[in-house]
Amino acid sequence: MPCDPIIEFDRTLQSLVKDMADTMYDAPGIGLAAIQINVHKRVIVMDVSGSGNQLQVFVNPEIIDLNQGTREVEEGCLSVPGFFVPVKRPEKVLIKAQDIQGNHFELEADEMTAVCIQHEVDHLDGKVFVDYLSRMKRERIRNKLIKAQAEPVACVA
Ligand code: CO
Repeated sequence: MPCDPIIEFDRTLQSLVKDMADTMYDAPGIGLAAIQINVHKRVIVMDVSGSGNQLQVFVNPEIIDLNQGTREVEEGCLSVPGFFVPVKRPEKVLIKAQDIQGNHFELEADEMTAVCIQHEVDHLDGKVFVDYLSRMKRERIRNKLIKAQAEPVACVA
């Protein structure tokens, strides 16, 4: 189920972003979409710095493929704990988004920023990275998840 755009850039949005950042850093993860804390809005927080002090906020993000080829990276997800699967995505993208005040901005992204933003925008569109797998592999992961307790993983979004 796709998430709804943010229209009001108010205190509700500010406290949502704070909750999301806290949840992401606690996990710990490098990115989080609002839907992962059950808020169906187009808001993403990320911090790919590894130092925990470079919070990025993307409201109503759009992604444009800059056609610089594709790259396959092992991705993990806070919503599917304990699994890493290779996902092939555009290597370089242009992100168009709004900040927490509603100002429009653009950002060219590659490396982990490009991987993470695409992973998170998939969440906003109701898609999870395991959807890229075959049905059989997906079933296997689902069965394991039902059996296994959630384990913390190092680098997930
Ligand atoms: Co995820």
